Amino acid sequence: MAKKGRILTGDRPTGRMHLGHYVGSMHNRIRLQDEYECFFIVADVHTLTTRPEREAIQQIGANIHEMVLDYLSVGIDPEKSTMFVQSAVPETYELNLIFEMMVSVARLERIPSLKDMANAANMDSMPFGLLGYPVLQAADILLPRANLVPVGKDNESHVEVTREIARRFNGLYGDVFPVPDVMVGDVPSLIGTDGQAKMSKSLNNAIFLSDDAKTVNEKVRSMFTDPARVRADIPGRVEGNPVFIYHDAFNPNGDEVNDLKERYRLGKVGDVEVKKKLAAAINAFLEPMRERRVIYEAKPSLVDEVLVAGTDKVRAIARETMTMVRDAMGLYRLPTL
Ligand code: TRP
Repeated sequence: MAKKGRILTGDRPTGRMHLGHYVGSMHNRIRLQDEYECFFIVADVHTLTTRPEREAIQQIGANIHEMVLDYLSVGIDPEKSTMFVQSAVPETYELNLIFEMMVSVARLERIPSLKDMANAANMDSMPFGLLGYPVLQAADILLPRANLVPVGKDNESHVEVTREIARRFNGLYGDVFPVPDVMVGDVPSLIGTDGQAKMSKSLNNAIFLSDDAKTVNEKVRSMFTDPARVRADIPGRVEGNPVFIYHDAFNPNGDEVNDLKERYRLGKVGDVEVKKKLAAAINAFLEPMRERRVIYEAKPSLVDEVLVAGTDKVRAIARETMTMVRDAMGLYRLPTL
């Protein structure tokens, strides 16, 4: 089948992936594997922007393994899609530097997510590299000249910077880069099990794709619901209630969900039943991933093999792009003597 273009997206290797990642972006990635030529980046250089310490760097290898196993388990097919390691593609650093000339400091300072990241990492000032986070991301996206970037809501503003950089580069030097489109998932930002903030590993409100059935049951049982509803015979609020947000996102049985909502509003169903059905739905959703994980885990060298092959492939494309970039810019070429 002729492909519609290229996708580039990925994640920082910071640990296990959760349901929020799935509905925010992974679902789109899996879904589009046949339509697009897909590149999935393990963005290890990006982790340095907030965690440059040696101890953090030492964790990266283990995190990469976990993350790629998550990718494989959700159904990213290494026969179809390319997974690779950012730091092993030196052209990334090269293109990043050129892109640093295509955007103003003031523009980057207006991106709220960067300040949030600095705060979350307890930094008292903004590192130059963290301010440049979206520029590095633009290098990732444009190195394979990607056309589409499926990401979670939190990354939308970064992809906007990529688009601006692509336009600016093309305007100065001619059409080298596509201006890639962003694509955000069905649930752009999934609330955590605590109902307080978006799902995140560091907030301890996540259900991981690798959680076993027992863990899922326990996490769902202690989920936040409607705080005003102290008894099952009191009418409850469905809107904004995390338990129903998850039912909508993960329970394919629409009739069951509608019936539960109706009875919840009337005070005719207890939280226990709603949660039991939710846990069953989430477990059914995760079960195929668990099955795939077992198969992939039985072959410990697989992750490395997939990454080595993927990184080789991306490097070849990256070299091609850098030749186009140098030619377009007319950068000085040292004569061969
Ligand atoms: N910024 C992404 C994150 O939040 C990771 C990432 C790095 C990325 N480079 C990318 C995502 C390029 C999409 C495209 O983890």
